[in-house]
Amino acid sequence: MLKKRKIGKVLKMVSRVIPVAPFDLVIFGGTGDLARRKILPGLFRRYCAGQIGNQTHIIGAARNGMDSAEYQEFVRKAIAEFDDDEGCDMGKLDDFLGLMSYVTLDARGDTGWNTLAGMLTSDRIRAFYFSVGPGLFGDLATRLHKHDMARSDSRIVVEKPFGRDLQSARALNKVLAEHFDETQIYRIDHYLGKETVQNLMAVRFGNMLFEPLWNSQYVDHIQITVAESVGVGTRGGYYDKSGAMRDMVQNHLMQLLCLIAMEPPAKFDPDAVRDEKLKVIRALDPVEMDEIVRGQYQGDATHPSYRDQVEDHESTTETFVALRAHISNWRWSGTPFYLRTGKRLRTRASEIAVVFKDAPHSIFEEDDRHHSNILTIRLQPNEGIELGVTIKEPGPGGMRLIDVPLDMTFAEALGPDKADFPDAYERLIMDVIRGNQTLFMRGDEVEAAWAWTDPIIAQWQESEAAPLGYASGSSGPDDALMLMHRDGRRWREIKP
Ligand code: BG6
Repeated sequence: MLKKRKIGKVLKMVSRVIPVAPFDLVIFGGTGDLARRKILPGLFRRYCAGQIGNQTHIIGAARNGMDSAEYQEFVRKAIAEFDDDEGCDMGKLDDFLGLMSYVTLDARGDTGWNTLAGMLTSDRIRAFYFSVGPGLFGDLATRLHKHDMARSDSRIVVEKPFGRDLQSARALNKVLAEHFDETQIYRIDHYLGKETVQNLMAVRFGNMLFEPLWNSQYVDHIQITVAESVGVGTRGGYYDKSGAMRDMVQNHLMQLLCLIAMEPPAKFDPDAVRDEKLKVIRALDPVEMDEIVRGQYQGDATHPSYRDQVEDHESTTETFVALRAHISNWRWSGTPFYLRTGKRLRTRASEIAVVFKDAPHSIFEEDDRHHSNILTIRLQPNEGIELGVTIKEPGPGGMRLIDVPLDMTFAEALGPDKADFPDAYERLIMDVIRGNQTLFMRGDEVEAAWAWTDPIIAQWQESEAAPLGYASGSSGPDDALMLMHRDGRRWREIKP
């Protein structure tokens, strides 16, 4: 009975929507790809859910000459194309479009800025979303200041990539800091907005069960996999200058590593959480070249190779990285973290697996099982948690042991309605309006992540070695398998 009541309470919390106060949101790059795919459909879903009210004002700003009516049509099309949430009442779309205006604006000139200033309401939260390349961050910040829009309660939201190395990230932080306080800067890493990524913290710090075992005494190693089945598609221009290390490892995988490895913060508050994450990054040892493998996908009969998809057909940019990381601190010394990410892999599957050590002594004969306790947190798709445990094989005939998974798929455990998780962008934009920075990266965190990443990239550049080719639809280059085999361990299978 008690158990049932508790579950009921959890379900209620999952579905709760707390409306935010009316706000002004300006989307610089309001006609760009991210706005169309994520920001605008996400805002519509929050409107449908009743979280955003009718007093809200959303202003698209870009260079394209169009008026508000044309922008509303642009938004209508974006939502038709990219909003896949059947729960949204399309009857509300016209009302939602009524919240939208548009201003033609030149980030590097003076066109449009006075008009924009006149469109903002004086006494409410205002947020400026920099959905543009980092090259424009400084111009936008400076002009917001010049035109008196950078009030002390204004917020700016900046997208990744936040620089391409430590030096450029520092320069960006510096230019933003000239006009905005750190408490006003929301650096987005959309992985932090994913429901299951936040669940990492709930699982670790909301349960007594795991935390006592969460250290090198009990954990053999941890694997973090973010596998994508898609290639670079039309993003080759951007991607070829980045590669998997800058595009995924420095940010998304680093954030996952931090959440899984950090010490319990004293409270769930922005600086307490970010202080702990920063300590993890700073405790990372430099990665040796024999601890990292980089790959590039090849083509097959149905898929083009990476090199076919980018301008430079000799490109040595990596689309796959696997590495072994060490965190030199009291908790994790001796427990390696294996990270891997890549495009055009077997399937889209992201998970974190905490592999516990074997029992120190087996009382059972012929027990050659190895690493049977694995806690797997599936981030996407099919979000859930699985714990591998050893049990007795049912039936007579002695004590034969088998490993079985205790599987909790959130969709099943919570019911289909309640497991309808908001997209990461929806949650993060609402956090900006509420003024909660917990799920955003602080400037020092980003810089520390680059400080760890830069020497790896520099060594690759020095060696001029090309990445290893791997077949589309595979698990990456064979050397990535060897990276673990050498240590007497193996990667978990990449499967849906
Ligand atoms: C982005 C990267 O930040 O994350 C992309 O630039 C990548 O290359 C994407 O495909 C993956 O995000 P998700 O949410 O699909 O796992």
